[in-house]
Amino acid sequence: MYVEMQHIHKTFDGFRASNDVSFGVEKGHLAALLGPSGSGKTTILRMIAGLDMPDSGEILLNGVRVNELPGSKRGIGFVFQNYALFRYMTVAENIAFGLEVQKKGKKEIKERVDELLELISMKELGKRYPNQLSGGQKQRVAFARALAPNPQLLLLDEPFAAIDAKVRRELRAWLKEMIEQVGITSIFVTHDQEEAMEVADTIIITNQGRIEQIGTPEDICREPQTDFVADFIDCRRFQLLMAIK
Ligand SMILES: Nc1ncnc2c1ncn2[C@@H]1O[C@H](COP(=O)(O)OP(=O)(O)OP(=O)(O)O)[C@@H](O)[C@H]1O
Ligand SMILES: [Mg+2]
Repeated sequence: MYVEMQHIHKTFDGFRASNDVSFGVEKGHLAALLGPSGSGKTTILRMIAGLDMPDSGEILLNGVRVNELPGSKRGIGFVFQNYALFRYMTVAENIAFGLEVQKKGKKEIKERVDELLELISMKELGKRYPNQLSGGQKQRVAFARALAPNPQLLLLDEPFAAIDAKVRRELRAWLKEMIEQVGITSIFVTHDQEEAMEVADTIIITNQGRIEQIGTPEDICREPQTDFVADFIDCRRFQLLMAIK
């Protein structure tokens, strides 16, 4: 397992945002955290990223306990819905940001930025500013910026929530392809089950701070383990999806 959460508890002013959360994500896999609003998805990501500390429990990355390790040292890239691009930086400068922070050489930075612009098919747009891009293009740049320092783990918190339905479908197919191509372990948060089923190897279902079930989309549809899951997941949509594939 590349990521392991073991018996994580987190309360905010007495409110249990994470209640005995345990799960693992294998190296190179894409897991989706799926659950209703307020079920604790973002809280989990923030603890993995080192933006919040669990009250108890262990967080392991590649077998090493990282509870006390600052987020900046965990080798994590993240794309958050509201993690906007830097407005006064060009696309290329945005992508270069993490490398500048690491004080990499000019030549190395340029090569990496060019490589990433190519990866996200935006080679010609490096000099544009964020306000000259579409929503989908902005999120592609956010993805490239997160990948630039070669993180071992990528966290995505509803990266397409602000994007309209059609573009969103295209983007998630694109994202899945990119993640497979790069081979990076990723955790993707969504409250859209269709999105989770289409994108993820493993789905982790959250409800009221707890994990209800972990499994492949197929497992979850065949054998929902709790009443909540049976109620929450609409497998007719899943079967339709499988038929389309
Ligand atoms: N800093 C905080 N202070 C107090 N309560 C918080 C804080 N962060 C989260 N919570 C509470 O913890 C619960 C879980 O929040 P979280 O943001 O993890 O949910 P979520 O599953 O990501 O929801 P959404 O789908 O709406 O983004 C919510 O009830 C929220 O109000
Ligand atoms: Mg959230």
